[in-house]
Amino acid sequence: MRSEKEESGGLSSLKMEAVAPIPPDIIPLLTDWYETNKRPLPWRTDTNPYHIWVSEIMLQQTRVETVIPYYERFLKSLPDVQALSLCPEEELLKLWEGLGYYSRVRNMQKAAQAICSPEGFGGAFPSAFQDLLSLPGFGTYTAGAVASIAFGQKVPAVDGNALRVLSRLRSDGRPVDEDKTKKAVSAELLAVMEAEKEPYSPGEFNQAFMDLSALICHQNSAPECEKCPLKDLCRAHAVGTESSFPVKNPKKARRVTDLTILRIRDGERYLIDKRPAKGLLAGLWEFPNAAGRLSEKEALERVEALGLMPLHIERLPKAKHLFSHVEWRMTGYEIRVAAFEGKLQGREVLVTPEELDREYSMPSAFQAYRPE
Ligand code: ADE
Repeated sequence: MRSEKEESGGLSSLKMEAVAPIPPDIIPLLTDWYETNKRPLPWRTDTNPYHIWVSEIMLQQTRVETVIPYYERFLKSLPDVQALSLCPEEELLKLWEGLGYYSRVRNMQKAAQAICSPEGFGGAFPSAFQDLLSLPGFGTYTAGAVASIAFGQKVPAVDGNALRVLSRLRSDGRPVDEDKTKKAVSAELLAVMEAEKEPYSPGEFNQAFMDLSALICHQNSAPECEKCPLKDLCRAHAVGTESSFPVKNPKKARRVTDLTILRIRDGERYLIDKRPAKGLLAGLWEFPNAAGRLSEKEALERVEALGLMPLHIERLPKAKHLFSHVEWRMTGYEIRVAAFEGKLQGREVLVTPEELDREYSMPSAFQAYRPE
């Protein structure tokens, strides 16, 4: 049997230091600060749940300045959840073109269909956190953001930005890229939000984290602590260790894939084809391409294998594109062929550059190879 001394000394020395509680004062401090410092953003002019939802999905992985024109165009084309539920897929993907993570918008349409269907929510946008969570594409962050901002419910919306602020505030060394940290912090924040007796806006409280993290508690540059409404409560600031937080696990390197892009044209028209319905960039349009780095000769053989007659080949510049887990290293050729007429086999179409811009959704990965 181990002695009591061993037990306490041995184990407690291994235990992580307890994390400080979230100070309840952050509610009035952040909501007061937000009142005068909030950014005037287009999704802040009303609390329509559809508007809030669209903005929150777009803002996942995409910067605010990039999102604004997409948000405005999306709502102009699809002004309500019914319109989204009925939108043809090609049109939907075109509205999302360039935002990336296309499964986000496909899930949005599935969720819109569930909201509109008589067996689902009968056309009424659900307001309960648990109902929102049941919809495709809704995780705890999105459900929390919509429930709090659109419906005033006391639930947190914890993303990487809120985690950064709270990790610095408490000198919290739990790795923020672990699900269990996000879950624990959400539960801690929920308890503080529920316990607050004074009236406050949960939606504004949650959005205050977003603005504080964008305007003061920066991710990629030194935080501007002198301006921060939480500076007197911030444990990292007290000892000057702001830049040591948040703690993250080392990232796995992206898998590198070499790809050769074949930009095939007959005069003004270019050949594009549709990617398979499953997998990376499913259902989007692309230039024909092949794994690896093809030589000129191999590229010409590929074109002939499509039943086309190459007339001229020219090398295009190299390009690379980063996905979350994969890096594409691309090389390309422009190949002029004799007229396409009657040569198309399956999912290919011929388009002028204007038609490509207007009607087809091509992922940004191919941006460097789009004709001018
Ligand atoms: N990032 C995520 N959600 C946001 C919001 N509602 N406003 C600003 N930035 C955000």
